[in-house]
Amino acid sequence: MTTEEPVIAPSADVDPSAAIGRGTRVWHLAQVREKARIGVSCILGRGAYVGPGVVLGDNVKVQNYALVYEPAVLEDGVFIGPAAVLTNDLYPRSADLTGRLKRDGDWEARGVQVREGAAVGARAVIVAGRTIGRYALVAAGAVVTRDVPDFALVAGNPARRIGWVGRAGRPLTPSSDGGWICPETGERYVEDAGLLALA
Ligand SMILES: CC(C)(COP(=O)(O)OP(=O)(O)OC[C@H]1O[C@@H](n2cnc3c(N)ncnc32)[C@H](O)[C@@H]1OP(=O)(O)O)[C@@H](O)C(=O)NCCC(=O)NCCS
Repeated sequence: MTTEEPVIAPSADVDPSAAIGRGTRVWHLAQVREKARIGVSCILGRGAYVGPGVVLGDNVKVQNYALVYEPAVLEDGVFIGPAAVLTNDLYPRSADLTGRLKRDGDWEARGVQVREGAAVGARAVIVAGRTIGRYALVAAGAVVTRDVPDFALVAGNPARRIGWVGRAGRPLTPSSDGGWICPETGERYVEDAGLLALA
């Protein structure tokens, strides 16, 4: 584990109540809101937004201009691509029917959960409350409206599964025994009832 102090660019806006782990870098114009918890050795790119109370594990990358709305939880090793948006309100309205501006607590914020090692491509949108499974990969520009299983490669609007990826992020190829294999690592996977697991 790194012992380095976090590095925060002078133009970044990190709330004093946020916790930033060792070795983490917060780049220019990024904003980290109240009580967010950022793990060890993370990178928050230029203009990235991390909402109040959002939790990031260790070795998480949130790329430039990605928006992570509360109460999202990103586990260890998660990658959020540039300009991706993790939303938190299924039926948004700015004001209520009396014309009063809605504020925190006037609606139920539902966070996105991104499980260990998963990656979200550039400019993808994840609808409030959905879960991206472990080591899944969301293609660039996808709109995720349903939970994504572990190791699934999903693409399009609405996002559909177009393949499987392994822990290294490479698409898996079918193996002669009816399972799946990673061309990069040789790791083997088995599919059962539409779900994939390491063999
Ligand atoms: C989805 C992805 C992993 C596919 O890569 P690949 O395995 O090399 O696939 P290919 O380019 O051979 O495309 C396979 C098919 O998927 C389609 N496809 C590829 N990327 C797509 C995307 N983002 N959305 C929708 N369809 C996509 C291709 O058009 C092709 O369709 P076809 O078979 O009908 O011609 C890749 O295109 C992608 O989006 N990666 C994420 C990139 C990213 O956002 N990185 C962030 C860091 S900058």
